[in-house]
Amino acid sequence: MCGIVGFTGSRKAAPILLKGLTRLEYRGYDSAGIAVLHDGAIEVDKVSGRIAKLSEKTKDGSLVPGVIGIGHTRWATHGAPTDINAHPHLSNDGKFAVVHNGIIENYLALREELIADGYVFQSETDTETIVHLLEMYYTGDIKSAVMKTASRLEGSYALGIVSTDAPETLFVVRESSPLILGIGVGENYFASDVTALVAHTKNVIYMEDGEIAELSPNAISVYDCTGQKITKPVSRVTWNVEAAEKGGYDHFMLKEIMEQPAAVKAALAPRIHEGQIRLDDFELTAEDLKDVRKIIITACGSAYYAGCSGRYVIERLCRIPVEVELASELRYADPMVDEHTLVLVISQSGETADTIAALKECRSRGAKIIGIVNVVGSTIAKLADYTLYTWAGPEIAVATTKGFTTQLAVLYLFAVYAAEKLGRLSPEKYDSLIRQLMNLPKRIQEAIDMNYQIPSVASRYASQSLFFIGRNTDYAIALEGALKMKEISYLHAESYAAGELKHGTIALIDENQPVIAVCCNEVLADKTLSNIVEVKARGAKVLALAFRGNTKIVSQADDVIFIPRVDAVFSAILAVVPLQLLAYYAAKEKGCDIDKPKNLAKSVTVE
Ligand code: G6P
Repeated sequence: MCGIVGFTGSRKAAPILLKGLTRLEYRGYDSAGIAVLHDGAIEVDKVSGRIAKLSEKTKDGSLVPGVIGIGHTRWATHGAPTDINAHPHLSNDGKFAVVHNGIIENYLALREELIADGYVFQSETDTETIVHLLEMYYTGDIKSAVMKTASRLEGSYALGIVSTDAPETLFVVRESSPLILGIGVGENYFASDVTALVAHTKNVIYMEDGEIAELSPNAISVYDCTGQKITKPVSRVTWNVEAAEKGGYDHFMLKEIMEQPAAVKAALAPRIHEGQIRLDDFELTAEDLKDVRKIIITACGSAYYAGCSGRYVIERLCRIPVEVELASELRYADPMVDEHTLVLVISQSGETADTIAALKECRSRGAKIIGIVNVVGSTIAKLADYTLYTWAGPEIAVATTKGFTTQLAVLYLFAVYAAEKLGRLSPEKYDSLIRQLMNLPKRIQEAIDMNYQIPSVASRYASQSLFFIGRNTDYAIALEGALKMKEISYLHAESYAAGELKHGTIALIDENQPVIAVCCNEVLADKTLSNIVEVKARGAKVLALAFRGNTKIVSQADDVIFIPRVDAVFSAILAVVPLQLLAYYAAKEKGCDIDKPKNLAKSVTVE
């Protein structure tokens, strides 16, 4: 979590830092700060609260002179989100300022050692130990002080450092936290994410673990952990700055919901050629797949629910057993994984700490890893044996939407691809599935267009507590629908497998308990319909979600949201769209901060 930026050039640094931080605010937004070097001294401005407060304090940075500086937006881990705990942190001699994304696990021992050596701490953060270590190890060579400091740190970090003794140079180092360098003309940058850089440059360098870099206005030098200079490839960002802007929508979340047809197309179309799936990124042979005894899907949050949904599709089409495990559980579960296990690791950001740990755990037991990842160059993309990018483009709203549907799209592709290789599909079925896949972007657009009434439905159903029910893929989507509702509207929402209701939960059903029934899986629709009848008999108001043309449901539910009809295996990618809109409008009705829900962060890089 947390976002860091840095700038060195000849323009005023503070406005650039503040703009960059605004783009990173999705990573954490409980406090923010900048440190700018001017006339041989470092000025630090920091506040608890949002970047907007810092911008107001510094008049959009115009009150802060200086052409080199660093900035930070925080999601508190060690110490409450106060002004003092906000980054940047200063060394006692005022020579160094540091911003940090990550967690220093051995900070207590370091803190004790530094206090015994006479260093005075201002904050409760783990980060402050870093700046005192820099002061301790500095004897005239900053790079060497950075290397010595890094060698003492356990945990994860991307550090940005400015020093009065290097008036034009920024220092950065990374270990298990994202860090990207931006190459400008007569100016250079660093940031946690390319979204903070694209307004200035599309030429970037992805830093790897253990690497250190020095950035001055006209040069970037990168070193390995032994201090040897290395040559890094320069990558080109393929999307424009507009992709990271609201483009007329009230919220990024709504914009990203509306972008789903295009995002899903970007995930699918380049991998389907003349009616055949070709995974541009890699190829799995029939022999590779026959060697797979089970598939494990692991992820966190919504990505986990994408996995829950994908499981049904893979099992149905490929007939390979699939287990879906929360990464935070799998990493400590002593998992039954070996070289015959294929692990699908799903992550929008590619940086989720638990997911990375689960990946490493499975890898150490011999499993092959396929990463399903959105952010190019992210840690999971690098660690996986193969990566299938979801190509959703930048997702800024904390609650994922297009990130989720593109994960589903890639899981569908994988399932159809593997099923065909394994000889489980007749040519006719394969052709039909491919045609349906190609049509999904259009169907998603229809699911959006035909549900213009959702704002009024949301205002009727946004009560204190909601139940979401469904079976099979409908259940997976009920889980994601309930999560969306909780995340952004703060309404209590529970999801249950529809058949499980009667085993206890039905005791909670009464006239004050609306139920949202996902009923798109036609094979099981009658079963879910019975559950609708059961909850209605106990007074619940029911909002059902069904395929267009399902007349039975109209006679039972109080309200119905329809989606276009597709093969049941692909229904989840459509069904989730109205549920995203429902959560969005419920949150809007309640006046919630939709793009930045309380206590959450988009990229959870701590355990
Ligand atoms: C956080 C976000 C969720 C996301 C989860 C996993 O909790 O708030 O929206 O689903 O992390 O993130 P990932 O980047 O690994 O998909």
